[in-house]
Amino acid sequence: MLRLGVNIDHVATIRNARGGLHPDPLRAALMAIEAGADGITAHLREDRRHIRDADMAAIKAGISKPLNFEMAATEEMQRIALATKPNACCLVPEKRTEVTTEGGLDVAGQDNSLRPFIRTLKDAGIRVSLFVDPDPRQLRASASVGADIVELHTGAYAEGHPGELERLIEGAFHADEMGLEVHAGHGLTYANVSAVAAIPQVVELNIGHFIIGEAVFTGLDAVVREFRRLMNAARGA
Ligand code: PXP
Repeated sequence: MLRLGVNIDHVATIRNARGGLHPDPLRAALMAIEAGADGITAHLREDRRHIRDADMAAIKAGISKPLNFEMAATEEMQRIALATKPNACCLVPEKRTEVTTEGGLDVAGQDNSLRPFIRTLKDAGIRVSLFVDPDPRQLRASASVGADIVELHTGAYAEGHPGELERLIEGAFHADEMGLEVHAGHGLTYANVSAVAAIPQVVELNIGHFIIGEAVFTGLDAVVREFRRLMNAARGA
């Protein structure tokens, strides 16, 4: 079955707007799991603009499903990940000025530094995922540096750029052939999720912004259930 990872970063964004404790990202994580999420994703950014260190620890301790710890490949984040012991770390590029993760990681351009970084996480029993564009060069580099998983960046597809669905389909095929587990995410909504969910090699989707935004109107439980329904339908399940 195609897994759904729910990214709860923007529950923290709303909480931080007022500086208090409400709404609590852990409560959202538990509710998402109750509604059918197979895992929770949270991104600890260098500037702590949404998820904070204490959130990551509370989510890891509080949920029974896998935690996917999204982070930049920095020494600080590696230290926190090793202490948190998530199920997986998803390495993403990070710029202070961006509003969200803009592009995939340049694995091919930093393979020498990524290889030992990934090794350290894997030696601690953490699976390592690389967030990459569906570019054959980046996929080959991801396999070569020892990643377990590639998460294909669906942002360009979600923005409606021509040819992007085909790139995702081909990328998923090649990544799978190289022995990489294939995930996908970024910018997915009710309107565009089905085509990605139908790619047979994709085993997990990570979805955040639309889920939290739509939850304002219909509730988190209903949104997670609707994504599950759409994903199952796309897989013929
Ligand atoms: N996957 C990764 C690696 C991401 O960085 C993000 C955005 O935080 C997502 C998935 C989810 O994207 P969105 O919030 O647009 O659904």
